Amino acid sequence: MHRRIIAPGALAAASLMLAIPASAASHSPGAPGIGDPYYPAYGNGGYDVSHYDLRLKYQPATDELSGTATILAKMTQDLSSFDLDFLLDVSEVRVNGAKASFTTSGQHELVVTPKKPLDKGTSITVVVRYSGVPSTKSAYGFSTWHRTPDGAVAADEPEAAWWWYPSNDHPLDKATYDVSVAVPNGTQAISNGTLQSTRSQLGSTRYNWRQNKPQATYLTTLAVGKFDITTSTSEGGVPVVNAYSKDLGDNDGAARASIERTGELVDWLSGYFGPYPFNSAGGYVPNTTTGYALETQTRVYYSPKQFANGANSSLVVHELAHQWYGDSVSLKGWKNIWLNEGFASYAQWLWSEHEGEGTTQELADYVYASHPADDPFWTVKPGDPGPDHQFDDAVYDRGALAIQALRNAVGDDAFFAILKGWPQEHAYGNASIADFQAYAEKVSGKSLGALFDVWLFQPVKPASGALAKSAGEAFAKSAGVQPRSWKKIVAAHGAH
Ligand code: TRP
Ligand code: ZN
Repeated sequence: MHRRIIAPGALAAASLMLAIPASAASHSPGAPGIGDPYYPAYGNGGYDVSHYDLRLKYQPATDELSGTATILAKMTQDLSSFDLDFLLDVSEVRVNGAKASFTTSGQHELVVTPKKPLDKGTSITVVVRYSGVPSTKSAYGFSTWHRTPDGAVAADEPEAAWWWYPSNDHPLDKATYDVSVAVPNGTQAISNGTLQSTRSQLGSTRYNWRQNKPQATYLTTLAVGKFDITTSTSEGGVPVVNAYSKDLGDNDGAARASIERTGELVDWLSGYFGPYPFNSAGGYVPNTTTGYALETQTRVYYSPKQFANGANSSLVVHELAHQWYGDSVSLKGWKNIWLNEGFASYAQWLWSEHEGEGTTQELADYVYASHPADDPFWTVKPGDPGPDHQFDDAVYDRGALAIQALRNAVGDDAFFAILKGWPQEHAYGNASIADFQAYAEKVSGKSLGALFDVWLFQPVKPASGALAKSAGEAFAKSAGVQPRSWKKIVAAHGAH
């Protein structure tokens, strides 16, 4: 608290200002967005969350979600009010124990005005009491809350949080989580991290999940339904928790034949990317009708459809690669999506080579040859695709191609040192493509500006020379021949 002593002579002038608390003079409303040009209203300004505690109750029959979110945050500005991103109905907000006033604004803003202005550098506790039927809420005309016959799922990118908890919804503000959800007996609630405990009482069971490492808001997931849960530990010591809807029908076997390999694949990826960054791994398959997977932290979301043609270990490799590239090291802004999708795709290329279904060079040659120069594929810049093209094929395929070009330019020793060093360099943090280029230049001792520009930032097909392994090597011996792994690789693309 700043108190002002007012000299008697100044009283008349000061009385004009009495409507504003003395300490509020320098305090202003927090911005309704964190400043990402792709999504100007996503996230908020003026504070940084360190922890979310969500204590919820969900009714599958009616889609009613209710409970309390307790948010710990630190002020990064002097604020008179701040926003949270949220769509459900709020009945009470408290800031540091005192009732705050609140209102809604824009597409998904909850504007909170605390009784006392908040000073930069101080810590606050925000309690939001809420309820609502998420499937009745939309923003910008869409909803990403997925109802299933036996429950619901929150798993989408970049928007998933608004339908189930209030947040500073941008990967720049990562936090730890306790997610506690009570559901009717016989129904399970799945979330990220470790299952700390369950407790049954009066017909309902409460699942207490904990994520003890920083997690982006869109990587925080909730699934309620009837699941079969399996647990194991990988050979390398990573605990694995998977969950399968009891309703997967003919896809059940292929889903398990893919996802039960999580431990093996986490260990295999650790060989390239370094130690697994989290204390739990796994995936879940609810009975949703979506067609995508999502790298929700420690507990990957998979759609049943993705197993219609049999098991897909390549898809599991893609999602697990994101645990290092995307989850532990998150992007600084959505334009840096290549740091997520390019590397997760390249992990699939490495897996293809390991499985004898096409080398990374063969895959690179194939992608290069299968898109002629006038194919619009080349107009998408993987290094800055724009919000409407964030998950285009080019971000994945040209993105991985760029990584092969990098590998050929710096050589295998430097390349694999970069691949393993980067997740350590920025573990649990955020980074940009510029940060990655600087790191690759430091490790390789090479100047890489031209290479990054050609492969990531130009809307045209690069000359093939940059892709050839060495000057003498004939380019694209195998180009035009589809590697055997290809169909499984593209099945991991987001835009289905
Ligand atoms: N990031 C996801 C993956 O690579 C794919 C994805 C892209 C996605 N856009 C999405 C998932 C939208 C859900 C919603 O696995
Ligand atoms: Zn991906």
